Amino acid sequence: CGIVGYVGPRQCVDLVVSGLKKLEYRGYDSAGVAVVGASGLEVARSKGKLANLVGVLKERPLHGTTGIGHTRWATHGRPSDENAHPHRYGGVAVVHNGIIENHLALRSSLQGRGHQFASETDTEIFAHLIAEALEDGKRNLVQAVRTALSQIQGTYAVAVISDRFPNEIVAAKNASPLVVGFGQGESFLASDVPAILEHTRDVVYLEEGELAHLTAQGISLEDRDGVPLDRPPRRIEWSAVAAEKEGHKHFMHKEIHEQPRALVDTVRGRTLLEEGDVALDGLELSADEAQRISRLVIVACGTSWHAGLCGRYMMETLARLPVEVELASEFRYRDPIVDERTLCLAISQSGETADTLAAVKEAKRRGARAVSICNVVGSAIPRECSGTLYTRAGPEIGVASTKAFTTQLACLFLLAVKLGRLRGTLSMEAARSHLSALRQLPAWMEQVVRQEPAVLPVAKRCAQARDVLFLGRGSQYPVALEGALKLKEISYIHAEGYAAGEMKHGPIALVDENLPVIVLATREPAYEKTLGNMEEVRARGGQVYAVVSEGDVHAASLAQVALTVPEAPPLLAPLLSILPLQFLAYHVADLKGTDVDQPRNLAKSVTVE
Ligand code: G6P
Repeated sequence: CGIVGYVGPRQCVDLVVSGLKKLEYRGYDSAGVAVVGASGLEVARSKGKLANLVGVLKERPLHGTTGIGHTRWATHGRPSDENAHPHRYGGVAVVHNGIIENHLALRSSLQGRGHQFASETDTEIFAHLIAEALEDGKRNLVQAVRTALSQIQGTYAVAVISDRFPNEIVAAKNASPLVVGFGQGESFLASDVPAILEHTRDVVYLEEGELAHLTAQGISLEDRDGVPLDRPPRRIEWSAVAAEKEGHKHFMHKEIHEQPRALVDTVRGRTLLEEGDVALDGLELSADEAQRISRLVIVACGTSWHAGLCGRYMMETLARLPVEVELASEFRYRDPIVDERTLCLAISQSGETADTLAAVKEAKRRGARAVSICNVVGSAIPRECSGTLYTRAGPEIGVASTKAFTTQLACLFLLAVKLGRLRGTLSMEAARSHLSALRQLPAWMEQVVRQEPAVLPVAKRCAQARDVLFLGRGSQYPVALEGALKLKEISYIHAEGYAAGEMKHGPIALVDENLPVIVLATREPAYEKTLGNMEEVRARGGQVYAVVSEGDVHAASLAQVALTVPEAPPLLAPLLSILPLQFLAYHVADLKGTDVDQPRNLAKSVTVE
């Protein structure tokens, strides 16, 4: 989602809308603006792209010199007019990015105090809490916002205006990005720099828990305890185009780097550590249902199919459930064996892939219950399913999928733990330890992301190659497939992923001094065997590059270059070991100068069969 705000002497509606335009790449389920002017607080909203909002504003122009705007990428509630931001209540209007975890509890207690809600969103709660605080005698907007924030658990970048304080905006940040911009006699705010770059280059990025109070005269900042901060603005030198990518050369690079944060969002509020349980918002399953399921059929395409293959290991191990992982384009044209005891799980970033959608319909037609893991709220596949677990990765722009993949894996893991608990195959203690490993992953991912430069020598070598082979075993086998897919998608080099144990049945014939072989050799049950495969490649003059567990000098000694990752439990290891392979594909493509974000012949979502 994107946020824009302005306070100063100008009529601000056009300025806010043009700022939103610059953020539209972040989501376009709906958009809206709120202003305070001579006629008090006014709001205009519309579902769909920004052009719809512009149409609404043409028919009913708004006037005001203090305003906030929002372009939404749905997380709670479907894309609709009512669910579009800003949300208003009692003279207060709010825009918000992020997720309020305790929204159900807050909503029902507000309802108990007589509040009525106009939308399904978690955001509307902010407006109610702030209005209530003002009613209760909070003397200024900052205090009222603080009172509301003290009741909220979750992530937010929030901006608030009120008709009682017509020349102010109060904004606060926790986990979702927010930046304030300093002008001459005017002040700006945005979720991302591109929205305000046209007006100011002097900005401060808010840190966790900080709050900003904007007026035409200036901006004051406070930390989470209300202590005033004195942080000088920083000058942004990026061009407007680079700013959309937050300074990264390509969206794909930005998205690889976003994965630790995306994973935090995916997991937030869903792991119940104490109880050793999982809350799957949107994908409720009863214990009865979970026990009745005799088979899980996963349908997906491309990268999402690779996530499904990793999911099989998770479901088998944790929920002792027979799993088939099907290419949607194959499944739908077969005569698949599906009945009422089959659970069909579709995995899709876009939620629009035609083959996956058709596979879901086919499974339903044969009596299965269909659910999905998806990144785009309200897209076609979730609409067809009776439950959906959203990945919350944020919009993925690069055609080669990265953060969608790792967040899909996290969702699969959550679902496997849930099924394991419901089916009685996983003890509470075991579930607790799995969930705490999952919570550890973002920090481990950060470590791997920091080692990006280590992949450069391998990238230089692969950029010269005609073919590249990727090998892995167990849960790392799908990672080998995904590593090969990434490389061919964006560098146009022929690459194959193979189960390491199958090497002797074919691919070993390809090995010579010209073939780079990338081996996933992290510690897992059959890892000794993988080390044996590395020896075999070396013995034939092949070049071995490996992803190895931190501190494993033996595995590292078998490779020309070893890329290290922290040692995670095998079921979660793919979330770490894919990162060096994403970097590898990216840097090979960048060295070759291909169109990384929009590779030839490919499309982000394939809505043809
Ligand atoms: C396209 C994209 C791939 C993606 C696949 C499935 O081919 O280029 O990156 O993995 O579709 O897309 P979905 O949106 O269903 O995950």
